[in-house]
Amino acid sequence: MNPTPTHAVPEPWLIQGGMGIAISNWRLARAVASAGQLGVVSGTAIDNVFVRRLQDHGVDDTLRAVLDRFPVPSVVEDALRRFAAVRRRAGAPYRSLAMLSDRSPRRAVDLVVLASFVEVALAKSGHGGLVGINLLTKVQIPTAATLCGAILAGVDYVMMGAGVPTHIPGVIDDLVHGRRTTLPLAVTGAPADHHASSLSFDPAPFVADATLRRPKFVGIVSSHVLATALFKRSNGPVDGFVVERPSAGGHNAPPRGSYPLDERGGPVYGPRDEVDYAVMSDLGVPFWIGGGVTTAAHVRDAQARGAAGVQVGTMFAYCSESGMEPALRHRVLATMSHESLEVATSTTASSTGYPFKVVELPGTIADPLTFAQRPRRCDLGYLREAYLDERGTTAYRCAAEPLAVYERKGGAREDALATTCLCNGLMATCGLAQVRPDGYEEAPIVTSGDRINEIAVLLAGREDYSARDVIDWLNPAAPRAPRGDAATPALTSGAS
Ligand SMILES: Cc1cc2nc3c(=O)[nH]c(=O)nc-3n(C[C@H](O)[C@H](O)[C@H](O)COP(=O)(O)O)c2cc1C
Repeated sequence: MNPTPTHAVPEPWLIQGGMGIAISNWRLARAVASAGQLGVVSGTAIDNVFVRRLQDHGVDDTLRAVLDRFPVPSVVEDALRRFAAVRRRAGAPYRSLAMLSDRSPRRAVDLVVLASFVEVALAKSGHGGLVGINLLTKVQIPTAATLCGAILAGVDYVMMGAGVPTHIPGVIDDLVHGRRTTLPLAVTGAPADHHASSLSFDPAPFVADATLRRPKFVGIVSSHVLATALFKRSNGPVDGFVVERPSAGGHNAPPRGSYPLDERGGPVYGPRDEVDYAVMSDLGVPFWIGGGVTTAAHVRDAQARGAAGVQVGTMFAYCSESGMEPALRHRVLATMSHESLEVATSTTASSTGYPFKVVELPGTIADPLTFAQRPRRCDLGYLREAYLDERGTTAYRCAAEPLAVYERKGGAREDALATTCLCNGLMATCGLAQVRPDGYEEAPIVTSGDRINEIAVLLAGREDYSARDVIDWLNPAAPRAPRGDAATPALTSGAS
């Protein structure tokens, strides 16, 4: 094994942010990477995304070429036999995977490695650009296997937020050297030295003869304080940061300390949440600013603060290469042409406890009627909380599961009442909604940044736009006649 050193390619000025589940899929990341910027695939729930796509579409030539490169053919054969042999009938339930746990069989873990490999390899095909993978720190069980698959496929960047991933640089180092790696598992009720509080993964079956390149590791943080802590306390190199502001789509970091809620129930950010970009610069690694970036002036403003560039999600989430279910994507774009969309910052929607941005669209889980009609159920389980049960073994619970079950497992009813099932909701948003045997189809949930309505500038009389249009529009160096750009307010240094 001979890991090659980190590559010396210039840093991109634009990162297309990771967007789960499968909104930033390989097609979007490939389009952005082909255009010379950093395209990022989402690694969240990638095993279920992979097997549901197989059930719908089988294996085409592009996928076959990638599968043929996977180092363990028996894993590919097993996946194809189980999920690609028969096409799913429209309206029939998908065959799902058992929820992952610390006791998952090797076969389930191998499938995660394969699925992640496929997503990154497809994103990297046909160009020499940069591809990253985004993972949520809160989702713990599949992390090492997902990273392993991504590294096998030559991923250039690993991007992680939603938690403090101090242990990930060391895990990456282990994986590129083909060493068994250990990750902490947060188990409620278990002391840190309890045997249940760690997970182990052995990459040896996949990396035996490979020469692996270490991807850069970029932490997604909400503040210079967190960036400094991650930089100093990590068990290996941190190569950069994305500073994500509270206007960003997806999960947001809560304000520091205790905080009030505004009249719509969203968290109120204050002076303690202001980012000190001088401290970011002093860390000596590149950083990008994310959240509310919708114009070239915003990019120039970020660069003036010392950033290498910006991370953008919302503008890419609605472009033609996005993984969002097409009818839903077009509905949002069509709505935007005649009225403003509302985005709420919900402190209850996500079972993680992090604030989560929700677009208020009828027929989605953000619609109280649709929410009330959904039978509570947890069967994808990526956001489950591990806890030590009364027998001292690791068990799992989710605030989105039936209330009686959650309470029996020691969960508090009041924490769970308004919690949505993000796993099933987001799986529906990317067009892979589960259909129940009684015909009930899981409804989507759409997340976006506060500035969603500013996408309208990209449409300019059209019904659609591409990832390339986003890049051209944001390009800080491109000369252009002003189309609202000059009037755009600068990014404020702190919370918005
Ligand atoms: C649809 C959507 C899904 C997202 N999912 C994730 C995710 O899975 N992981 C993550 O770190 N960030 C996620 N984000 C945040 C983006 O990566 C990015 O940082 C953010 O969108 C930037 O702010 P903007 O939305 O104002 O452009 C998501 C954003 C959107 C719009």
